[in-house]
Amino acid sequence: MERLSNRSVLVTGATGGMGIASVRALAAEGAHVGVADINEPAVRALADEIGGTALVLDVTSPEAVERVVADFAAARGSVDVLVNFAGIVDPRRLDEIDPESWSRVFDVNVRGTWLTCKAVLPFMPAGGSIVNIGSRAGLVGGTTSGASYAASKAAVICFTKSIAKFAAPKGIRANVINPGCIDTPMLEHFPAEVVAAMPGQAALGRLGSADEIADSVIFLATDASSFMTGAALNVNGGSHM
Ligand SMILES: NC(=O)c1ccc[n+]([C@@H]2O[C@H](COP(=O)([O-])OP(=O)(O)OC[C@H]3O[C@@H](n4cnc5c(N)ncnc54)[C@H](O)[C@@H]3O)[C@@H](O)[C@H]2O)c1
Repeated sequence: MERLSNRSVLVTGATGGMGIASVRALAAEGAHVGVADINEPAVRALADEIGGTALVLDVTSPEAVERVVADFAAARGSVDVLVNFAGIVDPRRLDEIDPESWSRVFDVNVRGTWLTCKAVLPFMPAGGSIVNIGSRAGLVGGTTSGASYAASKAAVICFTKSIAKFAAPKGIRANVINPGCIDTPMLEHFPAEVVAAMPGQAALGRLGSADEIADSVIFLATDASSFMTGAALNVNGGSHM
């Protein structure tokens, strides 16, 4: 049984490793997916593949976010689910990070998440669900993954609790997934020896897959999680308990 038929789902960072897996899983559950990313060729290819809507979007632009969300909502009638994958990492040590990079990481990861949530809420009916993406780094602090990234993901985790309280009176839920090390193109930003050590951080002794994150996205997007809001789902193979 398709659990998201007749639902409109907007996914940012949709053409990244986790995004692609989740977009396919959401479409397989019957959702109409708005495929949003800055990577235009990848957006068009993925939207064509799943019969979704191509949305070329930079989540750091307030005007673009407002326009793209309003156009998608007008075409579909509502936005029932928002999944915020758009994110960047600066893997450098805190004494190596420059001010411009610090701001850019916060612009994409935190401000982008806030902007999309704010833009979607007027078009989200009761029963709607927001799924934000934090990180294990946002719970334990940055080591390999950088101080700015970890701090930005802690902000996403906290912001998700704020939006859960804000939206609950409308019957809208908001939760955050905190992945551990997941095998996606994002890992290419790290030195090879750092990536080689990642499986050993998890009690399960391996990296996670984008499909395992997609399973959590489906859980939080559907009524399977109907009594969950403001919650964090730690999908990290036991790297932080
Ligand atoms: N891979 C991991 O180990 C890991 C662990 C914890 C959390 N995360 C988080 O999960 C999310 C997805 O990561 P991923 O592993 O799929 O990474 P990825 O690099 O494969 O995908 C990130 C996507 O975000 C898009 N993006 C970047 N800046 C954007 C912007 N300004 N506007 C719109 N889109 C933009 C990129 O084009 C890309 O498609 C990110 O928020 C990341 O921080 C990843």
